[in-house]
Formats: sequence, C-alpha cells, structure tokens
Amino acid sequence: MINNVLVAGGAGYIGSHTVKCLIEKGYKVVVLDNLITGHVKSLDGEVKYYYGDIADRGEVINIVKSEKIEAVIHFAASSIVHDSIQHPDYYFTENVAKTNRFLASLLMGGVDKIVFSSTAAVYGTPEFIPVEEKAVAKPVNPYGVSKLMIEQMLDWMQLSYGMRYIVLRYFNAAGAMLDGSLGEDHLDETHLIPLILKTALGQREAMKIFGTDYQTADGTCIRDYVHVLDLAEAHIAALEGLDQGFKREVYNVGTGSGFSVRQVMEQAKRITNINFLVEESSRRAGDPDVLVAKVDKIQRDLGWTPRNSQLETIIQSAWEWHRKHPLGYRGDFDAGK
Ligand code: UFG
Repeated sequence: MINNVLVAGGAGYIGSHTVKCLIEKGYKVVVLDNLITGHVKSLDGEVKYYYGDIADRGEVINIVKSEKIEAVIHFAASSIVHDSIQHPDYYFTENVAKTNRFLASLLMGGVDKIVFSSTAAVYGTPEFIPVEEKAVAKPVNPYGVSKLMIEQMLDWMQLSYGMRYIVLRYFNAAGAMLDGSLGEDHLDETHLIPLILKTALGQREAMKIFGTDYQTADGTCIRDYVHVLDLAEAHIAALEGLDQGFKREVYNVGTGSGFSVRQVMEQAKRITNINFLVEESSRRAGDPDVLVAKVDKIQRDLGWTPRNSQLETIIQSAWEWHRKHPLGYRGDFDAGK
C-alpha cells in the first residue's frame, strides 16, 4: 500500500487542501514547493516541507530517496490563463520543461506512480456538453496547451518507461476548508468566487459580469464548480487507483451540473447578506459559454463522488475563509499568527 507521498506544489490552493486530507487519511506527506505562488503558512505542522523547485534534479532525487517516496501528486504549475497568453514562453518553461525534468528525476529515483493536475482548459471550447474525457482536446490558451503537453508526455513515460499515471482534469475549483482555516489566496486573483467575496468585504468597488450575451438562459457563462475538498478526495482516490494497478487514465473532476455567473452572484448575496455592486461588462476573451463535466468515468472507476460541491457549501466555506483572513496568508503573517 502507498504510504509515503511527495506533493509537488503542496503549498498552493488545491495542494494545501489535499495535503491536509492526506494527513487525515494517515499518509506520510512530504511537500516540495518553490513558493512562487504557494504559501508556507498553508502547510500543516505535521508535513515535512522542502523549499525547492521541481526542476532541481539533485534535490528531487535526494527527497525521493531519503523520504522513500512511493508516489507523487504533481500540482506545481503556473495557472493563470490571461498571464499565459501574455507570457507563453514562461508557461512552457514553468509547466512543460520543468515537469519534463521532474518526471525524469522521479524515474531516476525509482518513483513510478504519479497523479497529475490537469484542467478543463485542455478542451478549449468544447463541442458537446457535458464534456467527456474522449472529447477533442483543443486548448485555446498556452496554459491549456501546457497541461495537454504534459498529459501527452506522461503517456509516453508510461509507454516507454512504465510510469503509471492518473490525470485529473479539474473544472472550476472553488471553496475552502469548511472551518475557513485554509483557502484560496492568489496575488493576482482572477477567479469569480474569490473576487465576489473580496467585493463583499469592501476590498473592491464592484463585481463585473464578463458578458451577458452568451447562449445560456440568463446570458452569462455557466461553469461546473467543484469544491476543493472534493478535488482533494479525487487525488486520494487516484492514488488508491494507482495502488490497485491503474496505469494510464484521464478523469474529469467536476459535478456534472453548472451555474451561471448571475446565479453564483445571487447565491453569494444570500450567503453574505451583502448587496454588493454588480456591473455588466463586455466578454472576457476565450471564455466558452458553458463548461460542464461528464463525471461518470471517475465515479465508475474510482468510486469518487462530490460530497461538498453544493454551490451553497462552496460559497459558504469560501466566505468563512475570506472573512477570517481578509488579507489571505499575508494577513496571518502580519498579525504574527
Ligand atoms: N467572471 C466574471 N467576472 C469576474 C471574474 C469571472 O464574470 O470578475 C466570469 C468569467 O467570465 C467566467 C466565470 O466567471 O465565465 C468563471 O470565471 P473564473 O475565472 O472563475 O474561471 P474560468 O472558468 O475562467 O477558469 C477555470 C479555471 C482555469 C481553467 C479554466 C478552463 O480556473 O484554471 O476554467 O476554461 F483554465
């Protein structure tokens, strides 16, 4: 049975929640994070933490050997879509080139099981909804391309070297630890729910709806929001799958239902009891009308099903986090906690 797990990017948003769940399940967890976007404050005291980069071959091999790592969960990446359009070269270096080195180091260190964070962005603008894993992958931004390239890289690592992998394609990750102790803290926040809650807290003047003329019932984009704790559980289910002999699988991780931008805003107003200002604005480039996952495959193969992904739970938990940590992890640090 897998016991010793290396989590690359374990100080990030989804990584830190997964680390917490792994520890609760009794895994021995080691984190490697370069803190470019992660927060050391998000790490549990029980975690062995290495400050470093996935591209540092010597360090990766050292960790793998000294910690007797049996499997890896790989979250480490740059993941801002508009940033990737402005700096594609950076994304290909940070995500693709560094992961290439990382995988080679893992193989040299004798690790042959990996769970990889991919994204619905690999589908681009899908033709059919809900999107199945076998839909054409045609990303429309460098971030999505970088994740798809890594998926392909993993497949060749499997075919040529026997590395076993499970790719998880997340839809819209959202929410926080239910008690608000961990949450989402990006320097350059672009995501809908955290921006709404920052607006409710008075940190921003108004929320903008990016486009009201989409082909949806209320004209705003529909997304499949999945709670970060359910995502964490999906990684643990994937580890168990690898343990049972899964070799090369790709799974969507979503709920199978979607909510419009307006619906999310209405629900956030109810939960916060704050009537924040909403302005209608023009479309943001590259946003598909509707993005909803077909999730039968992960339910069937790994027995995973979302437990915390009701829109209410997502927003309520994120609100707990934002209210308790209005400045994110930086605020905790300033307060000397
Ligand atoms: N939106 C607004 N106003 C805002 C912010 C967002 O109306 O201030 C809208 C967006 O236009 C979109 C929806 O809210 O329709 C959700 O936007 P997010 O930025 O929260 O999430 P995305 O769907 O754009 O992004 C997600 C993941 C990405 C992934 C992408 C795939 O966060 O990592 O899906 O399309 F690449």
